[in-house]
Amino acid sequence: MKNIDWNNLGFEYIKTDCHVRSTFKNGKWGRLGIHRKDTITMNVAATCLHYGQACFEGLKAFRCKDGKVRIFRPKENLKRMNDTASYIHCPQLPESMFIRAVKKAVSENIDFVPPYGTGGSMYLRPLLIGTGPRIGVAPGDQYDFIVLAIPVGAYYKGNIKPVDAVILDDYDRSAPRGTGHIKMGGNYAAGLHAHSLAKKMGFPINLYLDSKTRQYVDEFGTSNFIGITRDGKYVTPDSTTILPSITNKSLTQLAEDMGIPVERRPVAFHEIADFAEIGACGTAVVITPIGRIVCGNKTFEYDSEKCGPVLKKLYDELTRIQYGEIPDRHGWLMEVE
Ligand code: PLP
Ligand code: COI
Repeated sequence: MKNIDWNNLGFEYIKTDCHVRSTFKNGKWGRLGIHRKDTITMNVAATCLHYGQACFEGLKAFRCKDGKVRIFRPKENLKRMNDTASYIHCPQLPESMFIRAVKKAVSENIDFVPPYGTGGSMYLRPLLIGTGPRIGVAPGDQYDFIVLAIPVGAYYKGNIKPVDAVILDDYDRSAPRGTGHIKMGGNYAAGLHAHSLAKKMGFPINLYLDSKTRQYVDEFGTSNFIGITRDGKYVTPDSTTILPSITNKSLTQLAEDMGIPVERRPVAFHEIADFAEIGACGTAVVITPIGRIVCGNKTFEYDSEKCGPVLKKLYDELTRIQYGEIPDRHGWLMEVE
């Protein structure tokens, strides 16, 4: 075990023992290697640098109650990464390589997996980048697939403590657009200005409306949107410009298991005034309750002291499955040998 203050981990880059990497050259993927240095070298004309040919994923491994380490739904991340890869013309990742890579990234950094009971987990960050040179607008012919493994705690300070959100109006260039339906680096770059503007204004999280009409809720900068109605329904936006969240997909399944009605449909902006509870959901943020949403001179208030009862029940169910405290009834966990 590494000498780390496990109970006070945030969501920051920490250098671990190694990352795993494979290079695609001459039309095929090479051997998965283990790299101890946390730097890479590439051609100055690499397509990831010039044309943003880069995408990533985020998933977690958990030290479960029985001491074993398990990864949550890695095949879902592989599917989404391959969707993004085809969109930006990167080669597809074979399932066997992806699974071996995430398992290897965990097992080679096993001493960095936070102990059971600390609330921490190991965040896995698969990354796929064009590393071949091109100067005309065209995809390159060399790619690197990398998996980083980093111990993390809560993304927003204080686990499951409400945070305030802001909707930035379209007075600056990047705020009006969300991160889009694929996990491409450049989409996040377009949101970085909005993120830092929100932070400067004292809001840890920002919420995007749909960029075309600004009449509908899209998603948060880091996560999907969940609204719980006063009569206890789970409502989440149906939109082509949000990331299809694996956490949201899992939570809707758990909600259905609990008899909570689920509605995936366009969510009008004016509806946010009527929700009993609002939450952000994603791998990094798990479920983060929203205390207030500020939009210009309007403020929508929820419970800013504690998580509402429906979201809390869902949070407990999801995290109990992830930490192996209750049976994995949907087969979501993959053991790391
Ligand atoms: N939306 C955005 C913009 C995200 O960055 C993420 C995180 O990956 C999500 C939603 C949640 O997706 P997931 O639950 O698959 O982590
Ligand atoms: C994740 O939840 O995995 C993400 O990529 C979101 C990001 C805010 C870290």
